Amino acid sequence: MFCSALPSSRSIVLLIVLAVSVLVILKLLLVDEQYLLGIAPLYESEASDQRVLHRNQTLGVASKIYVLSLPMRDDRRQDMEHLRKTLDLHWSYIEAIDAENPIVETIMNSVRLIRETYPATSSFTWPDDLPPPDKPMDPWSPGFLSPTRSVDGQATAHKPMPCATQNNSIVPYTPDLPEHKILTASRVACWYSHISVISTIANDDTLRGDDAVIVLEDDVDMERDISHRLRRVWSSLPAGWDIVYLGHCWSDESINLALDADGTFSVTNGTFPVTHIHPSRSPLCTHAYALSRTGARRLLVHLRYPPFAYSRAIDKAISWLIESGRLKSFSIVPSIVVQRKAGKSDIMSGKGSTWRASLVNGIFGN
Ligand SMILES: *[C@@H]1O[C@H](CO)[C@@H](O)[C@H](O)[C@H]1NC(C)=O
Ligand SMILES: *[C@@H]1O[C@H](CO)[C@@H](O)[C@H](O)[C@H]1NC(C)=O
Ligand SMILES: *[C@@H]1O[C@H](CO)[C@@H](O)[C@H](O)[C@H]1NC(C)=O
Repeated sequence: MFCSALPSSRSIVLLIVLAVSVLVILKLLLVDEQYLLGIAPLYESEASDQRVLHRNQTLGVASKIYVLSLPMRDDRRQDMEHLRKTLDLHWSYIEAIDAENPIVETIMNSVRLIRETYPATSSFTWPDDLPPPDKPMDPWSPGFLSPTRSVDGQATAHKPMPCATQNNSIVPYTPDLPEHKILTASRVACWYSHISVISTIANDDTLRGDDAVIVLEDDVDMERDISHRLRRVWSSLPAGWDIVYLGHCWSDESINLALDADGTFSVTNGTFPVTHIHPSRSPLCTHAYALSRTGARRLLVHLRYPPFAYSRAIDKAISWLIESGRLKSFSIVPSIVVQRKAGKSDIMSGKGSTWRASLVNGIFGN
């Protein structure tokens, strides 16, 4: 949900002023700008080696848990700490960026240039091979933020960019295009933040290929017995899985037959929702998912492919990869992690439609 956060506090303005001053000073000191852009604003607030932890502290099925969180949202950090302590979990925070971060403008400029130049130079062909596990993967394709592409002084005068659909189908911009079809700065910031954590997992040599890492956004609630429910469905998960949605939005994920249903599938046993795991159809939202390390690498290969990178909201991008058979994805139904302010998401704010998801017995009494 930080993806839809509306930054409002004065501290953000101060941060921007500070960031701009630092950039200006560094520029005066002739520090190489590309070098600056290469530094992801990402840190882990706690020691990251959790190998020694008991699985009970990582929800029973995962090796690690990361929480993406905007540094200025102390309120959310406190709620997440309440969740963590209540369930006796261990996780590391990774800093998300917001729409005001200077790198967002640079990325949008690259997307604009790629849209202008790409069709002429090459056709859309997914990269098919994963790099070997011991080879580090960059969050960018070479040249995506190429030094020859400087930020255009006229950038603010450009028309808004529509979101791409499917592989790279893009309608021309018209003023009546609804907001949810526009590639906004907050969508780019959200993509960047998730790429930070996805590439951390992809490059984590302490993980085996099928080890699971859970990624959470900072405004979620969970079932009190989430570990129990996860352990139950996890045994049905086939080898070679890439991604598992612990929660999703805007899609009926029970359409494909449950894996763990023994042919007698039903969502409820009368009154009590029973958790099942289904092959995904087209799940949206990115507030709670698990990646295998191999899945993180496969996802990154696709998300950094230049004509696809930053082309739309990241949840739509991943959903397209699932629909088109590029990722082996599963969804837990009903969701065992939900966004606490469902319906206020900027992902689908058009048409006044809302998505409601609720828990049986959440920590925050959802
Ligand atoms: C871990 O969780 C399982 C299942 O809830 C429980 O049986 C076990 O005692 C727990 N182990 C520890 C060390 O807390
Ligand atoms: C997407 O791109 C792949 C090429 O890797 C192609 O096989 C597939 O047909 C494309 N899908 C659509 C819907 O354009
Ligand atoms: C449904 O499952 C819950 C929890 O396992 C149990 O307490 C309840 O008795 C079950 N209800 C029925 C009708 O089987």
